[in-house]
Amino acid sequence: MPFYHKLGKIPHKRHTQFRKPDGILYSEQLFGTIGFDGMSTNSYHEQRPTQVKAISKQYSVAPKIAKSNNIKSYRFKGFQVKPENDYLVSRKTILTNNDCSIILSAPKQSTSEYFYKNTDADELIFVHKGSGKLRTMFGNLDFKYGDYLLIPRGIIYKIDFDSEDNRLFIVESHRPIYTPKRYRNWFGQLLEHSPFCERDIRRPEELETYNEKGDFLIKVKKQGDIIEMVYASHPFDVVGYDGYNYPYAFSIHDFEPITGRIHQPPPVHQTFETDAFVVCSFVPRLYDYHPQSIPAPYNHSNIDSDEVLYYVDGDFMSRNDVEEGHISLHPAGIPHGPHPGATERSIGKTKTDELAVMVDTFKPLMVTEEAMKIADEDYHKSWLE
Ligand SMILES: [Fe+2]
Repeated sequence: MPFYHKLGKIPHKRHTQFRKPDGILYSEQLFGTIGFDGMSTNSYHEQRPTQVKAISKQYSVAPKIAKSNNIKSYRFKGFQVKPENDYLVSRKTILTNNDCSIILSAPKQSTSEYFYKNTDADELIFVHKGSGKLRTMFGNLDFKYGDYLLIPRGIIYKIDFDSEDNRLFIVESHRPIYTPKRYRNWFGQLLEHSPFCERDIRRPEELETYNEKGDFLIKVKKQGDIIEMVYASHPFDVVGYDGYNYPYAFSIHDFEPITGRIHQPPPVHQTFETDAFVVCSFVPRLYDYHPQSIPAPYNHSNIDSDEVLYYVDGDFMSRNDVEEGHISLHPAGIPHGPHPGATERSIGKTKTDELAVMVDTFKPLMVTEEAMKIADEDYHKSWLE
């Protein structure tokens, strides 16, 4: 996140002697991205973070592709994804390309036996159902319905759920995920026209520090494999850190919609950006107020973007027969638009309660075998009168 955060104990100067009460030095770690050019955090550990005891297993979790070149519009019934006890097992990749993966997950249990680290990708976890606590090496974040959790690549975490009824929509991104540049000034401060501001970004305020030795299993994701690594010290042994690279939470309910006299284009809903895709939040809002306005969107061809919409709650006015947990995929190369009757139906309406998350990718998405299990094969004909 492009603003500074400090938590726990740190020395006055970086790269200087910082000792425990018994005189032993803390282990300093610079945790950075994009070489030494991206955002980084300087952290201080009870133990050296390098103590690998064993590399015990390695296995592929790469998604199996059903359609690599797809031009068919799809609807996927997300809540048909079967709940699984284990968090990592529960993560089913639905759509993927070289830049990102879109994952549905219905985990029943907290991660208690292992820690997890994704070295390949930033993870954006949208909480559709469930609540709990994300525990990370850089502190904890409480979460609930409507939260986005952004976990930059490489941050070790566990996730604790309050109940077994959880539904997550996850985007794994091989490019760093930022908030939109156009809403920030030269210093990184969010500007007055931004639909959210720094007060809406929840940073870790609770740091758990364990100075323990033993066998600690970290499941590390790298290049489509999970590699099980056993470390000799507890991964959450940070006594303090400062910098710009840390996990944070943002609630979709804190996104302030931008509205106008006539239909506003999707970029007004933009919440996150990368150089390979954008993420938008469609939230309850007042409709357009020109006397002749048509609130439903017009037909459109994003000729070179795949558009993925994840329906969270409310009545999605431009679509017929769409329910919570559904995903629509409108691929690049063909136009899409309101369903029959939706345009007339929208006229005169003054507000919407819709809640949805959209991911627009600049390269085509491949459809996985997991996606085909929950696919509506006739959706592409749903615009016929
Ligand atoms: Fe669209």
